[in-house]
Amino acid sequence: MTRRAIVTGGGTGIGKAAARRLAADGCAVAIVGRRRHVLEAAAKEINTELGADRVSIASGDLAEPEQVRALAAQLTAHGDIDILVNNAGGRPSTGAEGLEGAATAFLGNFRMNVITAVLLTEALLPHLTRPGGRIVSVSSIAALRGIGAYAASKAALHGWALGLAYQLAPQGITVNVVAPGYVPDTEFWAGRLTPRSHHDRVAQIPLGRAGTPEEIAAGIAYLTAPDAAWTTGQILQINGGTLFGRG
Ligand SMILES: NC(=O)c1ccc[n+]([C@@H]2O[C@H](COP(=O)([O-])OP(=O)(O)OC[C@H]3O[C@@H](n4cnc5c(N)ncnc54)[C@H](OP(=O)(O)O)[C@@H]3O)[C@@H](O)[C@H]2O)c1
Repeated sequence: MTRRAIVTGGGTGIGKAAARRLAADGCAVAIVGRRRHVLEAAAKEINTELGADRVSIASGDLAEPEQVRALAAQLTAHGDIDILVNNAGGRPSTGAEGLEGAATAFLGNFRMNVITAVLLTEALLPHLTRPGGRIVSVSSIAALRGIGAYAASKAALHGWALGLAYQLAPQGITVNVVAPGYVPDTEFWAGRLTPRSHHDRVAQIPLGRAGTPEEIAAGIAYLTAPDAAWTTGQILQINGGTLFGRG
């Protein structure tokens, strides 16, 4: 039977690569984001490549409860969901300084990286396939060694996801996290890189190059596959060796 998947932030970068990979693996994939034209272009590109209508779109702001309620109704109209990839996120820019700046930075990052994942997951929980459902959230290497509001928000995803893994294990739903390292071919880095800063980042990577969205998508594909049924509560680091895991 065709597996039904949702990839948030699926119009660009890592999410688009994950949507392409899951669709190529035979899933029916709905991609979610705020910009409808971006989603439409991504869906058209992937469907044309595959010669099949496997990718559909649903637009809305995942940090807004009312919009998430409407999205969940749209996404579950044709049945339960097998795979939820909480990939939407990023680092909102803040101009303010002092206490106001700190409040803006922390609220903005938690809204963009934590609230987006928590709201859609909560809304879809009753509609996830049991047993067999898969939830994967995309955090960051920053959660493990970063600083500031972005790192704190990504680290919060870990605590939340691991608690959810424990809660949902008896129902046969797995919950895991993918923590990517440096992946420059994304909107995340648009306008933020110079040749020098790119070079400095790559110099910290033992494998000697930046990662690609497709390499992160491969980790997501593994954790969402039917034969990953015994893998839950894990944080999969994909970072070219920038930070080694510990046994
Ligand atoms: N690139 C890296 O080096 C790197 C490293 C570690 C972790 N990550 C993480 O990987 C994930 C994917 O990022 P990316 O690198 O592929 O960058 P990206 O191209 O900027 O993708 C982020 C996506 O999230 C969507 N999004 C953001 N806020 C949203 C909201 N409130 N509601 C719905 N959709 C929202 C954006 O679409 P709209 O703007 O249209 O809503 C966009 O498609 C993020 O969680 C990021 O933090 C990236």
